[in-house]
Amino acid sequence: MKRITLLGATGSIGSQAVELIEEYNQHFTLEAISANTNITKVEAILKKHDVKIVVMAKKYESRVKKAKPGCTFYPLESDGLIRCIKDLSDTVVLNALVGSVGLEATLEGIKNNQDILLANKESLVVGGPLILSALEHSTSKLIPIDSEHAALRECLKGRSVQDIEKLVITASGGSFRNLSVAELENVTVDDALKHPNWSMGKKITIDSATMMNKVFEVIEAHYLFGVSYDRIEAIIHKESIVHGIVHFKDGNVLAHIGPSDMRIPILSAMKGDDSLRYHSAFDLLTKGSLHFEKLDRRRYSLFDLGIAVARKNGMHVVTMNAANEIAVERFLNHEIRFVDIERLIVRCLDHFENHIPLTLENIKKHDESVRAYARHLEI
Ligand SMILES: NC(=O)c1ccc[n+]([C@@H]2O[C@H](COP(=O)([O-])OP(=O)(O)OC[C@H]3O[C@@H](n4cnc5c(N)ncnc54)[C@H](OP(=O)(O)O)[C@@H]3O)[C@@H](O)[C@H]2O)c1
Repeated sequence: MKRITLLGATGSIGSQAVELIEEYNQHFTLEAISANTNITKVEAILKKHDVKIVVMAKKYESRVKKAKPGCTFYPLESDGLIRCIKDLSDTVVLNALVGSVGLEATLEGIKNNQDILLANKESLVVGGPLILSALEHSTSKLIPIDSEHAALRECLKGRSVQDIEKLVITASGGSFRNLSVAELENVTVDDALKHPNWSMGKKITIDSATMMNKVFEVIEAHYLFGVSYDRIEAIIHKESIVHGIVHFKDGNVLAHIGPSDMRIPILSAMKGDDSLRYHSAFDLLTKGSLHFEKLDRRRYSLFDLGIAVARKNGMHVVTMNAANEIAVERFLNHEIRFVDIERLIVRCLDHFENHIPLTLENIKKHDESVRAYARHLEI
């Protein structure tokens, strides 16, 4: 029986993980959950699961205690995530938080030798070097849940990273893939949230439309597989059937294909071996033709900018991530336009210093400063 601490239990990934734990209850138990404000979903989870610890915003403490008398409640505001991970250091941590708030939790789990099932890509984006260094002193396994990285991991089974010539990750192109640059000027929030192939949380859906999500995934692949940025490519594949491709030095090329269903990589990461499979209907004959295109750098200008920032290996990647989180939030709140997301990120990159040593304390402090600046920036 695998015991799971589920961070971000009320989100898109978190909810699918809860459903899988229920469906495969002879293999998994839910020991702890965290959420931010979605108390209704938390109450529903507490009805069905014997959860020991709940982490949420402080104001929900009494409702949580009422829904699950006897459970421990830790407020998010008082290091709740870290206290929860410490207390349950014999569980596996599924990190489905959104944003850089996930980094410290990932590091804490690694410190306690806990396996980390990582959906929270921002952990690696802002703290990749810290995570790699923590892993060197730990027995933790870091298992990606992102579909592209789970796909690459499947292709790499039985092979060594030394055999890799190039990694390719695919991008659907997001909600506005059929619009010109000029047409992006007046797109709406509702339109931006209509992803053509995947049903996901709001932030990642917007990140897919700007292509920031693919920047994050290239960074994620760089740290997960130890491959240089020169040898990681992102291409457009509108059907989202091929998720990842590995070109090997011996001339073989392996591509991973499958349905656009996150339950497959989530279950595969949770189980950790091939003994369970998610039964998702998939018939290639019904899919028609598959298309692959070069990523249009003019149309998705944030992509080259983001990769250039990543290559600099400094605090600018934290600046970019924090600016992006605030820009997306402001777009969703109708404060700025879609095209302003990139403008806001560029303004923050111009304003903040890159050469600050990457420590957890510096990252947290810097992240806060960028958020405060980006929140009030006139665009
Ligand atoms: N969704 C997908 O299909 C997908 C696919 C691949 C990778 N990912 C990655 O997986 C991660 C989660 O994505 P998602 O789409 O599941 O996100 P989501 O639906 O927005 O859920 C985010 C979760 O984090 C919680 N949360 C939000 N802000 C928080 C804060 N400041 N402190 C603590 N908890 C907070 C939310 O709680 P409340 O519900 O209470 O607000 C929710 O439980 C992201 O890194 C994303 O890039 C997602």
